[in-house]
Amino acid sequence: MSDTNPDAGAEANSQSQLGMQAMLDLAAPQPNYKALIEQGGFVQPMDHIAISFSRANSEFVLRHHELFSSRVEMNLGNVRPLIPLNVDPPQHASYRKLLDPLFSPKRMDEQEADITRRVNALIDAFIDRRECNFSEEFADLFPTSVFLGLMGLPEDELPMFLRLRDGILHPEKLDPDARLDLDKRLAVMNGTGQEIYDYFGGLIELRQYEPANDIISRFLSVEMDGEKLSHEDILDICYLFLIAGLDTVSDSLTCFYAFLARNPDHRRQIADDPAVIPAAVEELLRWESPVPAGVPRVAREEVELPNGQLVREGTAVVVSYGAANVDPAECPDAFDVRFDRKKNSHIAFGAGVHRCLGSHLARRELRVTLREWHRRIPDYHIKPGHEQLEYPPGLRHVKDLMLAWD
Ligand code: HEM
Repeated sequence: MSDTNPDAGAEANSQSQLGMQAMLDLAAPQPNYKALIEQGGFVQPMDHIAISFSRANSEFVLRHHELFSSRVEMNLGNVRPLIPLNVDPPQHASYRKLLDPLFSPKRMDEQEADITRRVNALIDAFIDRRECNFSEEFADLFPTSVFLGLMGLPEDELPMFLRLRDGILHPEKLDPDARLDLDKRLAVMNGTGQEIYDYFGGLIELRQYEPANDIISRFLSVEMDGEKLSHEDILDICYLFLIAGLDTVSDSLTCFYAFLARNPDHRRQIADDPAVIPAAVEELLRWESPVPAGVPRVAREEVELPNGQLVREGTAVVVSYGAANVDPAECPDAFDVRFDRKKNSHIAFGAGVHRCLGSHLARRELRVTLREWHRRIPDYHIKPGHEQLEYPPGLRHVKDLMLAWD
């Protein structure tokens, strides 16, 4: 990129603007992604900050942890790095070896009956009303309820967990001024962060004296590289579980149901043939990419990307999973949403060593929801008068998705 060529400067500037627009237009980002990929798939809106849109560049950044570090400030109310998200290899591998079995497919098989029960209990509450606020009455509650089960915690802690989650990820729900006032936003997030540390700190102490058959008791008993996990290690893992495992599934569900309510042909495929559900979940994850971008990766040295762009040492590269998932270089008919796709290698759960720890849990929650919901409510639509959908800032999600059925 030359500083002396005014045309090149103007082009880079307009690409940067489009790049920012793509990151902010959460309702329908795919056309912007397409345009950005066609223009090279990489923008640098500020010195030391870049966004990668093409699949080739993005996979390269995610898979080359020796060139790009994940040890970055998250500003999510946390006072220490989140484990394992902000830990680089080789230490990262030790944490994953310990954590992966907790979320394995086999472990999810054991959870399936509990997950199914929780889906149906939520549907029971509104099915006879023939309408619901899907975001509030289902999507928000369900993953948190499952999380309580996994952590061996009582159901009556659900409102508190939702408040802790919102305090970090949606601070404006706790203090409306936090929407625009950065100081107030930080105050809510930092206060909530401290509450999360206090809550899990108390629970860890309790489990030290009264072990139970739950995840925290397991953390207290296992060894990593010949040593017990420290109190802070356990806190930093639980902190990440709370922010990574609750909102992501809620957000995915609102995006999925907005799509299905507006696309009856796709909805009917699921209702008529539940065997299509696993493929539908993968395709909706690809198309919707509810986590549109990930933790920035900081270049440890100057790096040339596969598409030819140079990344200077110290530059934080944000990877747009959403764009990579509609890159025609990987997926030729990327703009068709097809549940009969033979190959679907989306990176909605990331790629490389930090690929989502909870992907099997997320998939199970999404599949069971689609199965049970369409068994009981096969035909539904957006409630008349509520067709204009709002996708607020943050991860991609629909606020107040109002569904109705006959
Ligand atoms: C559909 C739902 C979900 C999506 C789309 C999603 C997406 C992602 C993505 C893209 C990453 C990679 C971040 C990066 O490399 O910067 C990630 C990491 C992670 N996710 Fe998920 N996630 C989901 C559900 C969950 C659930 C249910 C959990 C439960 C605990 C979870 C726990 C984690 C953890 C702990 C990491 C960090 C892994 C590491 O650094 O090694 N996620 N997730």
